[in-house]
Amino acid sequence: MPIITFRSTTTKDKRAYATAGDTGTILTVARAAGVKIPFECQEGECGSCLIRVEYVEGKPRMAISLTEREKTKLKELGKITEAQIKDAEVNDVAPPYRLACQFIAREEEVIIHYEHCPAEA
Ligand code: FES
Repeated sequence: MPIITFRSTTTKDKRAYATAGDTGTILTVARAAGVKIPFECQEGECGSCLIRVEYVEGKPRMAISLTEREKTKLKELGKITEAQIKDAEVNDVAPPYRLACQFIAREEEVIIHYEHCPAEA
């Protein structure tokens, strides 16, 4: 079962457990848990849901899947290089930044660093 810890500089850590086999994105899991990660398009195009992902040491690495939209937007934002994309897709080395609306957690245990969005209801 994926264990996801959401961490921002302005709020207390919040843990969420995604159901095994769930296909929800990190953004979906966050919203269900009441975590206010900023977002707009939910399509991987605006970049407002940028997160930094920290993988918990000692847990098995999972295959990394990046959508074309996510790759394009992360490159535009200067948050991923071609080498990191290749490393992710060939060697399962996780890139440090992802888009919460595109990243689907599977069995990994991760800490999601995000900017808290206090204005969101
Ligand atoms: Fe727009 Fe994720 S909400 S890229």
